Amino acid sequence: MEREEWSSTLGFILASIGSAVGIGNIWRFPYIVGANGGGAFLVPYLIAIFLFGLPLMVLELAIGRSTGTSIVSAFRSIQQRFTAAGIAIVAVVSLILGYYLVITGWVLAYAFFFALGRPVEFGAFTGSYLPLAFFLLSGLAVYVTVRSGVREGIERLSRYLIPVLLVILIFLVAFSLTEPGAFEGIEFYLSPDFSKLTDPAVWIAAFGQAFFSLSVGMGILITFGSYLRKGSLFRNATIIAVADILIAVLAGLVIFPLVFTAGLDPAAGVNLAFISLPTAFMEIQYGMLLGTLFFLMLFAAALTSAASMLEVPVAALMDSYGYPRKRATLLVFAVIMLLGLPSALSYTALNLEVFGTPFLDLADYMFGTIGLIVAGLIVSIVGGWFMSRTRICAEIDGCGWQQRAYMVLIRYGVPAILLVTLIGNFFRVVG
Ligand code: PHE
Repeated sequence: MEREEWSSTLGFILASIGSAVGIGNIWRFPYIVGANGGGAFLVPYLIAIFLFGLPLMVLELAIGRSTGTSIVSAFRSIQQRFTAAGIAIVAVVSLILGYYLVITGWVLAYAFFFALGRPVEFGAFTGSYLPLAFFLLSGLAVYVTVRSGVREGIERLSRYLIPVLLVILIFLVAFSLTEPGAFEGIEFYLSPDFSKLTDPAVWIAAFGQAFFSLSVGMGILITFGSYLRKGSLFRNATIIAVADILIAVLAGLVIFPLVFTAGLDPAAGVNLAFISLPTAFMEIQYGMLLGTLFFLMLFAAALTSAASMLEVPVAALMDSYGYPRKRATLLVFAVIMLLGLPSALSYTALNLEVFGTPFLDLADYMFGTIGLIVAGLIVSIVGGWFMSRTRICAEIDGCGWQQRAYMVLIRYGVPAILLVTLIGNFFRVVG
């Protein structure tokens, strides 16, 4: 069968923006900025994105386009012995998707109950069994998407949802900036505290966030690149990265003015999206409408990211074992639901915990943080050191000085930074 292809470069870019823009931009980025030096955080963050994230994005796309296949078979074609590494990365993506869909389900439920005018309280909601139903619904939504194929499913989803997301975002920014707490909120969010830049923890947070937000290092872009025929990878990756940054920055402009208007604690960290912000919506005028829009926007962002993750194991089954798309999707969907189940149950009355940590938090740490970094490390080493230079050059418009500088970054810079981030994350938990 002929390989599927994006309908156009724009379709590919939108799908990749859909993958990159997710819960990480709208919820995680603002609170990490707030906690790590405000505007000053943008210095390490932009360095992380452009100097290290972008080269890895380009490398992944180049591997995908050059080998014309998804991660496991691409790794196998680079060298037989890397097959297992490819499979390991597929496993990590699947494990991340399992708990990511649980959070996507929470978001959907929040949107639903805000729309009904009866917002839920976090503890009461997650303590019930309702999250299971919304987890299943979110899973079904990505299942139906990916089952429909690259162009008709994944690309089409982003073609609709990215514009919707942008319109809601711009509307919410405009509204937030007219609220009484706008000035204070923005001051907290963006006024730079440069003394924080001497703290290595801030840099480690920036690198972790950058790689997570770009959806890089997990074979998604290898898979997406395998459906791409032409166009400059540098240019396309830059467009995707810039869109990813802009949406994250704008999301903070929505959140902090509202939090300050309602007089809540802006450094609520992880609780920001699910506790502080809903409380803020309940206190301000038009809060129900705004809350519904906010969580719908977050749901759109999460869904397109989740679909891109699901495509990785599905494409691997299709390319390595010759499964037809529909059968592969059904099988992977069933496995993902099982993998996500412990996370879905972790806050319910069953209280699934390991050593006192809810399973979901543990999954986020083990797979979403450590696993993701290790996966990125593997991709940069296999692609940077073992794929022939001529093959990479053929994908990135030749081997001029720019490309050579990029290769140095990919071979030395990216693995070194990922290693430092990995060690930093270990110590944060141990220490
Ligand atoms: N980039 C997505 C976000 O910001 C999350 C994600 C991570 C998606 C890894 C795919 C792979 O939410």
